[in-house]
Amino acid sequence: MFSPSRRMAHVPQSFIREILKVTQKPEVISFAGGLPDPECFPAQAISEAASRAIGRHSARVLQYAPTEGLLELRQWIAQRYQRFGLSLGPENVLITTGSQQALDLLGKILLNPGDTVLMEHPSYLGAIQAFSLLEARFATAPLTPRGVDLAAVQRALQRGARLFYTIPNFHNPTGISADASTRQALAQLMAEYPQTLLVEDDPYGELRFHGPEIPPIFAATHGASIHLGSFSKILAPGLRVGWMAGPPEIIRAAATAKQAADLHTSTVCQAVILQLLEDGFPLPAHIQRVCAHYGERAQAMIHALRHAAPQGTRFTEPEGGMFLWLSLPPQGPTSMELFHAAMEQGVAFVPGTPFFLDGGGAHAARLNFTAASSERIEQGILRLCQCLTSLLQAKADSKRPEVS
Ligand SMILES: Cc1ncc(COP(=O)(O)O)c(C=O)c1O
Repeated sequence: MFSPSRRMAHVPQSFIREILKVTQKPEVISFAGGLPDPECFPAQAISEAASRAIGRHSARVLQYAPTEGLLELRQWIAQRYQRFGLSLGPENVLITTGSQQALDLLGKILLNPGDTVLMEHPSYLGAIQAFSLLEARFATAPLTPRGVDLAAVQRALQRGARLFYTIPNFHNPTGISADASTRQALAQLMAEYPQTLLVEDDPYGELRFHGPEIPPIFAATHGASIHLGSFSKILAPGLRVGWMAGPPEIIRAAATAKQAADLHTSTVCQAVILQLLEDGFPLPAHIQRVCAHYGERAQAMIHALRHAAPQGTRFTEPEGGMFLWLSLPPQGPTSMELFHAAMEQGVAFVPGTPFFLDGGGAHAARLNFTAASSERIEQGILRLCQCLTSLLQAKADSKRPEVS
C-alpha cells in the first residue's frame, strides 16, 4: 500500500491546479491560471531553430550534457548582467529546469528540517511547496505598496533565517514591485545578516510595460546573493529552461544537487535557445512586443475594474508581469464565496488564501490578465463585479433589522 513519506505531510496541495481542472472549459473566462498567452510564443522561430540545431549538431544536441548547462548559454546569460554593472562569468550561472527547479535545489543545499525560510506574505505557491517539502519552518514579512516591509524583515532576520525568498518584480500573486530604495535597503540589511541567503526570484522582471527598469537586489549586493531568471515568460514555458546566478560556491553546490535530480536540463531545449540567439532572433524586440500585448490586457482589466468594481474594492495596478491583486470590501463576502458565485457565471480566479501561510487572504484574490483577450477580460470583470455587488447587497440585507 502507498504510504507517503513524512515530509509529504507538510506540502500544501496546489489549489491552483485543482481550480484549473474546473476552469479549462472554453466557455469559462479564466483569470485563474498563470499562463502566458500562446500568441506570444515565437513558435515558427523556435521550430526552425530546433530543426537547424538538431540537423547540424545532432551528436551534441541529442547527447548528455554538463550538469551546469551549455557553456555558451551560461556565458550569454552571464553577460546580460553587465547592464546592472555586474561582471559575471559562466561559473556564476547554473542552467536549471525552469526557475522552479532552482527553488528546490537551493532548499536542498541550504535547509535542514526545521530551518527557517523568510517569505513575503503572500507569496508564490510553488516556493511554499518547494520549501515545505524540505520541512522548512516559515517566517513572514508583509508586503507594502513599495515592496516588502523592511522592519518586519529585520525582526525576522534577528530571530534567524537560512534563506529570504523575495519576488521584487511584479510579484506573484500581488503584482507589487519593490521600489529602488527598498531594494537598496534590503541589500544593506542582508549584509548585516550573512548567515541568511537572499534569493531573488525574477521570472517577470523583463515583462515591464510601464516605467523604467529597476536593477535587481542582486546588483546592490554586488552579486553576493542569488538571482533566478527564466526563459518561460520571455520565450515559452514548455522549454523548461531557467537559471540561477550567484557566487560560484553556491552554484557548485547546486550543481551537485542537480546531478542527483536530473543530471542536466534538456540539451535539446538549451540548444534551441542558443540556436535562436545565433540565428539573430531579435529577443529584445520580441520582449517589447510581449510587454505591449500584456500592457494592453492589464489596462483592459484595470479600466474594467475602475468602471465596475463596487465601492470599497481595491486593486493593485502593476507596471508589468501577469497578475493583479484584488482586495474585497472587508464587510462583504469572502473571496471563496465570490469564487463559487463567479464560477456559476462562468468566471474563474484564485482566492487569496492559498498564497498565505497562516490562513490569511480571505478577502483577497489573484487575477491573471495575460491569458484572456481584452474583450473577454472586460466581460469577465463585469460579471465578477456584478457577482460581488449582489453578494455585498445580500450581506447588507441580512444584517438589516427586520421591520414588522
Ligand atoms: C514567482 C515564480 N517563480 C517561479 C516560477 C516558475 O517558473 P519556471 O517556468 O521558470 O519554472 C513561477 C511560475 O509561474 C513564478 O510565478
